[in-house]
Amino acid sequence: MVNILNQTHSIANHFLYEMRHKDIQKDRGKFRNNLKRLGIIMAYEVSKVLDYKKSNVSTPLADLDVELLTDQPVIISILRASMPFMEGFMEVFDQADAGFIGAYRREGVDEVDVNLEYLASPPLEGRNVIVVDPMLATGKSVIKSLDHLMSHGSPDHIHIVAAVAAPEGIDYISKSLKTQFTIWTGALDEKLNSNAYIIPGLGDAGDLCFGPKL
Ligand code: URA
Repeated sequence: MVNILNQTHSIANHFLYEMRHKDIQKDRGKFRNNLKRLGIIMAYEVSKVLDYKKSNVSTPLADLDVELLTDQPVIISILRASMPFMEGFMEVFDQADAGFIGAYRREGVDEVDVNLEYLASPPLEGRNVIVVDPMLATGKSVIKSLDHLMSHGSPDHIHIVAAVAAPEGIDYISKSLKTQFTIWTGALDEKLNSNAYIIPGLGDAGDLCFGPKL
């Protein structure tokens, strides 16, 4: 299942507009802040499909029944562009467990290979796992990251959350992932170019957040 945030009118469209705009996006602080704000909104969207249990609370005046999360999710950040996006998620799920995975793309002309160098994750068995990766392009970094993460247990459900996604990435994830999953994206764009960048997309999210790397 794929949920596309900009199919519904919301302020998130302004954040995406500023992130895509070739001049506005040059303000690195603004770009990171928009990615974080989008993370907050998308975390709220994901929160609507998690499980809740009945609980109660005493205000200074009376007691009442409320519903609270049955379990905290695990939020996994695929470094490096995910960091501000994850910050938004951690603002909302402020008691969640978190994991980190370092994936980078070795770029060739036709193929983008994904290299994994760092993994720190809590146990994932039976958990709701939210993988945040702002640009869902080929889907290979998500699938390769999840293959490695499975050594920490099989999640109950995996939520894959992107700011912008390409149809190719969604297809790749749909055919590769055997665990129950839901994809959430701010926008679904047209296609990938020959360097596996999303078109129209926004460019290199990692560079826009943190500057170019060697
Ligand atoms: N990663 C990015 O930062 N941008 C893309 O368009 C694709 C992958």
